[in-house]
Amino acid sequence: MNWPELVDKTREIWEQNATWWDNQKIDESPFTRRLIKPAVLRLLAVKEGETILDLACGNGWLARDLATLGAHIVACDFSSALLSCARARTPSTTVISYMQLDLTDESDLARLGCSRFDCAVCNMALMDIANIEPLLRTVQLALKPGGRFVFSIPHPCFHTPSTILVAERQDLVSHREISHSISIKSYFGAGPEACSVLKNQPRSHYLFHRPLSVILRECFAAGLVLDGLEEPIFPASVSNEQALGWANLTSIPPILVARLRRPLSS
Ligand SMILES: C[S@@+](CC[C@H](N)C(=O)[O-])C[C@H]1O[C@@H](n2cnc3c(N)ncnc32)[C@H](O)[C@@H]1O
Repeated sequence: MNWPELVDKTREIWEQNATWWDNQKIDESPFTRRLIKPAVLRLLAVKEGETILDLACGNGWLARDLATLGAHIVACDFSSALLSCARARTPSTTVISYMQLDLTDESDLARLGCSRFDCAVCNMALMDIANIEPLLRTVQLALKPGGRFVFSIPHPCFHTPSTILVAERQDLVSHREISHSISIKSYFGAGPEACSVLKNQPRSHYLFHRPLSVILRECFAAGLVLDGLEEPIFPASVSNEQALGWANLTSIPPILVARLRRPLSS
């Protein structure tokens, strides 16, 4: 399958998963609450009255959170079903402009305009998008000079579709020792993989894993410059050594959050 076909397939899957996804309360998960949201908000550093673009907004939880900070929000996604969920969850007193837009489609992206946004955010979605070049070029144009673009993704070095979480137990004389680690079969990887990122997901969706060098190369080619990076980890206080999960990997970051800027002079 080439990437235009993958976009159609990807959209079909997101439409079918939309209601189920909306009910998962992603914004309340430990990943979002403890790792993703604090780092995204730190790097965005939103000021009241700013205009923010939320790219691939899903059910719009982040757009609504940003609106409470006094920002004007434009939020877009290609799934009409997810946008319906987003609109339904938006209180009548909150003004968010939702747009249905395919982030791989240059003519669709042109609707976002030029030099209009103080910041743009793409939260946990770049790895779901079949081709990120058009989106990055558009972000560079749509941001005001000096404007910032923050994205979060599963850490491309450690939290890839091929990552295996490992727990090992050693029975010592005085006690049992359990250690946690990861095993990665392929970093550079190849092609998209159908994955279920949440338990009991109705349909698995495509993940477009890209090595860090590829993601940053595409950002730099679009004219964006990197000026902030966070690799949040779970604090040791939330680990539970009996469970197999990222909360036990207190020195391996599962998430990468980056901030890029449109240079002032571009
Ligand atoms: C994992 S969800 C993240 C949603 C949201 N940003 C959040 O933090 O909950 C990924 C989103 O990417 C959207 N998406 C995938 N490919 C897209 C495309 N080509 N254009 C627009 N949205 C796309 C999906 O519809 C979905 O809402």
